[in-house]
Amino acid sequence: MNHFLDVSDYSPAEIQDMLNLAVRLKQEYFAGGNSPLFKGKVLALIFQKPSLRTRVSFDMAMRHMGGDALYLSPSEIGLGKREAISDISRVLSGYVHGMMARVFDHAHIVELAKWSSVPVINGLSDYSHPCQAMADALTIQEKFGNLKGLTVTYVGDGNNVAVSLMHIAVMLGANFRIANPEGYDMPALAQEIGANLAAQSGAQISYLRDPHEAVKDAHVIYTDTWTSMGQEEETAKREAVFPPYQVNADLVREADKDAIVMHCLPAHRNHELTDDVADGPHSVIFPQAHNRLHAQKAVLARLFGVA
Ligand code: CP
Ligand code: NVA
Repeated sequence: MNHFLDVSDYSPAEIQDMLNLAVRLKQEYFAGGNSPLFKGKVLALIFQKPSLRTRVSFDMAMRHMGGDALYLSPSEIGLGKREAISDISRVLSGYVHGMMARVFDHAHIVELAKWSSVPVINGLSDYSHPCQAMADALTIQEKFGNLKGLTVTYVGDGNNVAVSLMHIAVMLGANFRIANPEGYDMPALAQEIGANLAAQSGAQISYLRDPHEAVKDAHVIYTDTWTSMGQEEETAKREAVFPPYQVNADLVREADKDAIVMHCLPAHRNHELTDDVADGPHSVIFPQAHNRLHAQKAVLARLFGVA
């Protein structure tokens, strides 16, 4: 069974191929609409946490291509609480053609996939956010042609979004730098996988503490919230540690003059990203959010085996 749990489960050629399909589906959509390749298919959208982009972009991706989506809220199915994940997975497999799930514990998406006889997509876990990474790579590609030889810099918490961004960036030949405070490093497993992927593509990865050093001449500056969903009790502590990692106009000036500024959203404006930068000439945050739709159509088409 094909699932989409992490970009690193795929080869760089397969990821590039899905991105090429995303480009084609985006062109087709704006040229009058997508063909109904998902006709008769229903995707279950399972959420343990809130969402705007992931929920709406998956729902609309299914509708644009002739299919349907079914939203299951955090309180509805009680993943692992009301019912064992292995049972939920086997029951849903008989009703729907695919499942997208947003979970707290990455082990839960792995468990869902283990028992499912239909494709399972990771719509964000505490470890990774591969659908975001696909949209990010599509956005970078649209600006620079491809990722080879670019410098992609992430400033902030070594979180789920950072992990998937690092993996896709080095898979596609970009050098990746991260600047984060001590105590907020990426998980060791993500670093190990990143090192293997970088060795294959010849990309460099730099783990830094100084955001100024990290953004020097970078083509992409990326940031995300300092406090991810599920870490709310750490908010005060994090708000004290992270301000030197704010992406503001002074920091952006140190990057390449044509650098783009990215954020997966939701943004905490004037915390990790200042208003002037978010709404300024370097920002691509809204095209980036819109690309979730096109990138996910490609992922779904591949998993359904229809393109
Ligand atoms: N970027 C992202 O996944 O947004 P949502 O949490 O709104 O889905
Ligand atoms: N790192 C954030 C991303 C939200 C899309 C979180 O996990 O809350």
